[in-house]
Amino acid sequence: MTSSRYTKRKIYYHGYNFFFNIYLKITHCINIIKLKLNGVKYGKNLKTMGVMVFKLHPESHVIIGDNVSLISNPRRYSLNLYAPMKFVTFSTNSEIKIGNNVGMNGTSIVSRSQKITIDNDTIIAGNVVITDSDSHHIWPPEQRMIFNGEQTDESVSIGKNCWICMNSIILKGVNIGENSVIGAGSVVTKDIPANCLAAGAPAKVIKNYKEKTKSRSEYPKS
Ligand SMILES: CC(C)(COP(=O)(O)OP(=O)(O)OC[C@H]1O[C@@H](n2cnc3c(N)ncnc32)[C@H](O)[C@@H]1OP(=O)(O)O)[C@@H](O)C(=O)NCCC(=O)NCCS
Repeated sequence: MTSSRYTKRKIYYHGYNFFFNIYLKITHCINIIKLKLNGVKYGKNLKTMGVMVFKLHPESHVIIGDNVSLISNPRRYSLNLYAPMKFVTFSTNSEIKIGNNVGMNGTSIVSRSQKITIDNDTIIAGNVVITDSDSHHIWPPEQRMIFNGEQTDESVSIGKNCWICMNSIILKGVNIGENSVIGAGSVVTKDIPANCLAAGAPAKVIKNYKEKTKSRSEYPKS
């Protein structure tokens, strides 16, 4: 009785994985078609899982480096994902540049009129939002739906080897220095230096890491 229950579970487990892998292959093909139709330049070994969302201005620029992994499906991420990978650009000046070996999970990147850069080897955990704008004029309130406040848009950059933990929000004008960690659920409103842990809302530096770092490629592959 017990062994037949395990057999059924094994069949279900392997059967589900088999069809799920086919689903992932199909979604990857859909993503590649979307990338090509949107004129996105992407590098070697791009991995995508689950259907991504693109809303790109035809004259904007989106560049994705080599060995990048873009996850949109919660089954392929250890924690939860609330939404798929999303790339949005609004104008000719909008630019999104993702470096090599970057991993992102259900990240929403919105470049309205400035540049958003994510440098090599950075990990972005689930449900992170990165934006160069506030989307609306702030004050007076009656102007919020009339003016979009574009004059306050500012570029965002995330350095090499950073780790942005889950559910964080990176707001306009922020520059995060290389190797730094942004704790889960942070709201980053100001620049964060290199080699530190910053967290909270608004994010503040909590720890500075003194140990010397190596590049990821200097470690043997596990
Ligand atoms: C960033 C992180 C890894 C740091 O872990 P850590 O080095 O063990 O941090 P510590 O527990 O030593 O925390 C140091 C201080 O920062 C505070 N802190 C840590 N993370 C924080 C956060 N996300 N928000 C606010 N404060 C935080 C701690 O409360 C502690 O404060 P105290 O010194 O006043 O007690 C962890 O906080 C985190 O965010 N984990 C989630 C990782 C994730 O998103 N994984 C998804 C898979 S990619």
